[in-house]
Amino acid sequence: MATKVLIIAYSWSGTTAKLATALQRVTGGDRVDLTVAAGTFPNDMYATSDVANQQLATHQLPALTNAVPDVSAYDVLLVGGPVWSAKVSTPVRSFLQSLSNFSGIVAPFYTDAGTPGGYENDFASLVTSATVASGIGLTSSELQGANQQLASWWQRLTTK
Ligand SMILES: Cc1cc2nc3c(=O)[nH]c(=O)nc-3n(C[C@H](O)[C@H](O)[C@H](O)COP(=O)(O)O)c2cc1C
Repeated sequence: MATKVLIIAYSWSGTTAKLATALQRVTGGDRVDLTVAAGTFPNDMYATSDVANQQLATHQLPALTNAVPDVSAYDVLLVGGPVWSAKVSTPVRSFLQSLSNFSGIVAPFYTDAGTPGGYENDFASLVTSATVASGIGLTSSELQGANQQLASWWQRLTTK
């Protein structure tokens, strides 16, 4: 039976959205974009970092304004977002909190400026019930021409 895959992505400035689109082509999966209320984050990167750090410090993750899908119909969830301070961005953290009953496979995809740090470890620590597979991270310049790399990653993920 074909693997049912759902691609879920948050993108603050559009780069992870491009990776999500490439992964849609490679996997044939469904897609949901995570959104937060307008004005949640400023337009400036450093100011956004301050807001996100405050959200983490106060345990007040931003509410998602998209409809959160029923993930139980899927075998694999590919959950994407930008690397923020070597960690999972706060909107993606909000989504992962809603996953407490999912028992399939979850794999992270992410974009960064070259220093993802412990992103995948942080991601894994936020997933409680599902199996976390090895993820894929790219910079925006690596996105161009990454289709073969994405296809190999997807193949490894689904043949394990
Ligand atoms: C608040 C904030 C924190 C960031 N922290 C990091 C970081 O720790 N390491 C890194 O390589 N890039 C960092 N970046 C850069 C983004 O991860 C990178 O530009 C990413 O591709 C943006 O994806 P998006 O367009 O989907 O939001 C940060 C960007 C923002 C806005």
